[in-house]
Amino acid sequence: MSSDIPPPLGERIKGLFEPAPLMTWAMSHYIRVCVEAVFQKGEILAPILATRRLRDEAFGRFWVEFSTPAQNAPPPTTTIANEEDSPQPSKNAHGSSDLIPPLLKAANGIILDIGPGTGTQMPLLRSPSITAIYGPEPCVGLHAQLARRAAAEGLADKYYILPSGAASSELLPALRETGTGVVDEYERTGKGIFDTIICVRVLCSVPEMEKTVDELYTLLKPGGKVLVTEHVVNPWRTAKGSILARIAQGVYQLLGWSFFIGDCALDRDTESVLRKVADRDGGWEVVDLERSFSWTAMPYISGTLVKKSD
Ligand SMILES: C[S@@+](CC[C@H](N)C(=O)[O-])C[C@H]1O[C@@H](n2cnc3c(N)ncnc32)[C@H](O)[C@@H]1O
Repeated sequence: MSSDIPPPLGERIKGLFEPAPLMTWAMSHYIRVCVEAVFQKGEILAPILATRRLRDEAFGRFWVEFSTPAQNAPPPTTTIANEEDSPQPSKNAHGSSDLIPPLLKAANGIILDIGPGTGTQMPLLRSPSITAIYGPEPCVGLHAQLARRAAAEGLADKYYILPSGAASSELLPALRETGTGVVDEYERTGKGIFDTIICVRVLCSVPEMEKTVDELYTLLKPGGKVLVTEHVVNPWRTAKGSILARIAQGVYQLLGWSFFIGDCALDRDTESVLRKVADRDGGWEVVDLERSFSWTAMPYISGTLVKKSD
């Protein structure tokens, strides 16, 4: 069954509530972090004066817990569910995690793995055709887990964890810091740095997405590819979309989804931004994107965009 064929009514109703358990889970971490700051550390004003720090701390804890298979916790039953990835092809996808393995098989060369989180995708990046992986992850609370995962997957010598976001103003200095010379090479040739850019559930969180996507496109080598699995705004105007799911997305946003989930937005039109960014070169060489779970509050786009060769 295609992952974009609406299921029976009960499943469709369930699809409206998918973000709810995630949000309450993340919210509980934020409350705990605030309580610790006030009552254990005596930082009485921290929830007001250091909101950003507390949010980052809470999101880091949430994401570690979410992306680490737990002994006791029940697995999340949402389309964002990842954990140990299933090798099922995307046409049979039951959750967003099923979309990722077939996609990442195409990763090769020098890779930019944007917002790797705890490195859940690393087991899919062990191909010998991959020469180096750079992972800009601004949430430094996730770096220890990321480093452990790189070592466990035998990638420690080619995985570079960068304490930066994906915007060029942060990314290029962080890449330079690695001492690998990729930026020097880029400046000498002007031909881009990366053969593959991986965007898995991250463009929903980057500030100024259009600008960042434009900068990432510049850093992609001619003939290079972007591999995408992103949740997006519900395509409610199309036959497969859902007006109810679009309204639900708005409600979650109002209830604080972005605040608790690391600035993630449920309502971004990421597909249009990705498609448009190559207009300055007359478009992409290849655009192969498919939609999944379009009846839910967390519909996905997934696939590949290949930049024109010189
Ligand atoms: C939902 S998690 C996904 C993690 C990982 N890609 C995965 O699928 O398991 C989003 C990640 O993006 C990171 N992130 C947020 N803003 C970012 C930015 N501006 N640049 C790069 N990563 C960012 C977050 O810290 C977080 O680790």
